[in-house]
This record gives sequence, structure tokens and C-alpha cells, in this order.
Amino acid sequence: MNHYHSIAIDGPSGAGKSTLARALAQEMGYLYVDTGAIYRTVGLAVHRRGVDPKDPKAVEQVLGQVDITMGHGPDGAQRMYLDGEDVSQAIRQHIISSYASQVAALPPVRAFLLQKQRHLAENHNVIMDGRDIGTVVLPQADVKIFLTADPKARAQRRYLELLERGQQADLEQVLTDVVERDRQDMERAISPLRQAEDAQVVDTTGKDLEESRALLRCVIQSVLSQKEES
Ligand code: DC
Repeated sequence: MNHYHSIAIDGPSGAGKSTLARALAQEMGYLYVDTGAIYRTVGLAVHRRGVDPKDPKAVEQVLGQVDITMGHGPDGAQRMYLDGEDVSQAIRQHIISSYASQVAALPPVRAFLLQKQRHLAENHNVIMDGRDIGTVVLPQADVKIFLTADPKARAQRRYLELLERGQQADLEQVLTDVVERDRQDMERAISPLRQAEDAQVVDTTGKDLEESRALLRCVIQSVLSQKEES
């Protein structure tokens, strides 16, 4: 029996999952796990080797050759390491988003991550964000949130993030990419992005960071206190 609490936050890219999950994890003293960052690290490893991200055999081979680990900085931020190199910045490149989404559709990649993610939840109180946390990885999570926002609002956030990182971006292109990534993530055969039946929907369209954070905190606290009462 697991004595640790887990909060699953799923939803499409750009809804604010990582920023909000990380902030609330810090407030609550939970470990924050950004599962997308792990898929991105696999995507980066595949990209660096010039391997086709749609080829399950070749990608599985890469998984056997690399060492992917994660750690947390003093501010609670998750850091990713590929063969000992800190790749936390490199995985945020625009091209790696597409690689991550493609490798995430492959069964060997999902099996590899499933173990890592469950192990973390068995040993810590976690707030885990991703696409299939409430449906597949932690179906017994104490709280399940489906965090979403309309595609234009999500593209706008991604666009600003890219500019802040000094990368060039075109808003129309970012919107096209966001819609394409949603499609890939929702239509794949294995662990597609979908709302768990028992998830609470939180929509951040038109809300700034503070408003979204307050709303999410309120929903989480209300689910936790209902559980305590019952
Ligand atoms: O959250 P993100 O944008 O960093 O995620 C990158 C990609 O990883 C995303 O396109 C889908 C995939 N992913 C997934 O399939 N399952 C998860 N639990 C998390 C991310």
C-alpha cells in the first residue's frame, strides 16, 4: 500500500501545467515531476543520434545506450541529465517538442517511462504533470486534474516562452505546431492524451498565472478535504 499522496495533472501543451504544478508542489512540499521533460530527453537523444523518431526498433536501441536521470534544484525545478550532461535547456528547443511527441507514441518508450514514474510516486508525495498520469501512470492518484485552455491562448504562451528564451518564433507557426502536437498526442494508439473520468477540469483561458494558480489550488484543496471527510 502506498503511503504517499499523488496529484496528477494532465492536459495539452501550453495550458500552464509545468509552471502551475511546480509552484504548487513547492507550496505543498511535494516532489514535482515533469514527465514531458523525460520524453523530451529521449527525443533529444534520438535527435542527436540522427535516428528516425518514428522507428520503434531504432529508438529502443537508443534507450539501451543512454543514461537518462533527473534531479531537482534548490528551487524545486526539475533538471534533466543525458549521459551526465545537464540538458534542461537543450530539451526546450522547438524541434525537440516534435521529436518528444513522436517518440512518446512508441510502446518501448512508454514502458521505459512508466517504471520511472511509478517508482517516483511510490517513494514521494508527488505532483506529476503529463498526458496520461491520471489515466495510465497513477490511476489511483488522490487528485486528478485536466488542465486545459483554448489552442490560441496556449500558442500565445508558448510563443512568449520561446521569445523569452531568445529563440525566434512566429505565432501562426507556433499555433499550427500546437494543434498538430495535440492531434499526435490525442490520436496515438497507446496512452493517448484524454481526460480521466474522475478528473476535475480546470480551464486557464484568459487567466493569468496568479488566477490560474489560485483556481488550481482551490480545486486540489477541495478534493483533498472531501477525501479526508469520507
Ligand atoms: O509537456 P511537454 O510539452 O513537455 O511534453 C512533450 C511531449 O511528450 C508531448 O508532446 C507529449 C509527450 N508526453 C506524453 O506523451 N506523455 C506524458 N505523460 C508527458 C508528455
